[in-house]
Amino acid sequence: MEKLVVEGGARLRGSVPVSGSKNSSLPILAATLLTRERCVIRRVPDLSDTNYMLQILSKLGAHVERASGTVTVEAGDIHPEAPYDLVRRMRASICVMGPLTGRLHRASVSLPGGCVIGDRPIDLHLMGLRAIGATVEVAGGDIKIEAPDGLHGAEVNLRGKHGTTVLGTDNLIMAAVLAKGTTVIEGAAAEPEVVDLADFLNSMGARIEGAGTGRITIRGVEELHGTEHTVIPDRIEAGTFMLAGAIAGDEVTVQRARPDHLVAVTEALRRCGFTVAENGDALTVVGCGEPISGELTTEPYPGFPTDMQAQMCALFATTHGTSTVRETIFPQRFMHIAEMKRMGAHADVSGSTAVIHGVPRLSGAPVMASDLRASAALVLAGLSAEGETEVNRLYHIDRGYEHIDEKLAMLGARLRRVKV
Ligand code: EPU
Repeated sequence: MEKLVVEGGARLRGSVPVSGSKNSSLPILAATLLTRERCVIRRVPDLSDTNYMLQILSKLGAHVERASGTVTVEAGDIHPEAPYDLVRRMRASICVMGPLTGRLHRASVSLPGGCVIGDRPIDLHLMGLRAIGATVEVAGGDIKIEAPDGLHGAEVNLRGKHGTTVLGTDNLIMAAVLAKGTTVIEGAAAEPEVVDLADFLNSMGARIEGAGTGRITIRGVEELHGTEHTVIPDRIEAGTFMLAGAIAGDEVTVQRARPDHLVAVTEALRRCGFTVAENGDALTVVGCGEPISGELTTEPYPGFPTDMQAQMCALFATTHGTSTVRETIFPQRFMHIAEMKRMGAHADVSGSTAVIHGVPRLSGAPVMASDLRASAALVLAGLSAEGETEVNRLYHIDRGYEHIDEKLAMLGARLRRVKV
């Protein structure tokens, strides 16, 4: 096990390149199961989550090669069973369900386990597959899906009580691309990662329209072919470094980003008084003397992303005044608040809302990473805290941030990875 020791107080300055998107790479890698032919995917970040996905693909029978950021998958003969020992390590492995059902008309995928960011049901994923003709049974911890007569296009509304579902939309798209007839998804997730998946599938010969809107139309085709694709930049990694710049920076630039995917984050920072300058694929955050407290609500894209909520809490922890953060996607996603309180933050969580009273400075403390984004927020909090912050259980961060310690060091942060 490793921990990250962050020495607070160094001012950050400089540029950092953004990696390819984790949340795009995972479903795109799963989608390679839809063809026997070779797919080449570039800019796949080197993360434990993408490595798990590659292991799952090879256990399913695909031939997988990885050379730095380029992954080649050839899924010639595959089988439809993804057992618990593979699936339990990463919730996103659920997204092999759609492509296995689409290509093989059957799948057996273990139910993913619990998750610290709250209850994460998959009822909408299953509803989508049922709507296009699959029978779905959950027994013994496994989801068994069968469609002996094939899949048939249908109209499906995927909106749930917490709004749209990203991986649920992905799963239904991937199952429907080889179905007979046309599938229309109403209440579809419009996240850029869904658009990237649709672009990838269309380059394989699929006929998907409307990705990026709430209504996606998929006209089934007979078969898909191999392709090459470059994954979009990771907007959450970019946003996290922008927040590092806001919390502890004089001037921090994220490069190789998609500023159009980061509008909600840019606007939130501007409302807090920061200058954010856009230049091509780069965004620069300029530190400001006295940030302004505010209100923030997470929403599906293009609203403010839940995956950036914890990092904003780290900013508000030392922003003079009272800030309110409302989490509408994962109402219990506030594990970081308890840890930030160990660093001296004044904050309370009531239901799905955190109220944060800014203090002038946090103080370093040993803290426990609970999930990926909470851990990133604790590292950010540590950058400006007095003394040393030890972020334990670093494996959470390595799931989703490629070499975060090296990238922060490039900006002048003082931090070290230590084996425990
Ligand atoms: N939901 C249901 N039923 C379902 C599916 C989802 O009620 O069948 C609910 C969820 O409980 C939640 C809401 O719908 O309240 C949205 O969940 P969604 O399905 O969109 O989440 P996801 O697809 O499982 C992806 C990202 C998450 C990100 C969410 C929301 C990947 C691999 N994961 O999860 O990313 O927070 O969308 O944008 O794409 C992360 O990267 O740290 C992360 C957690």
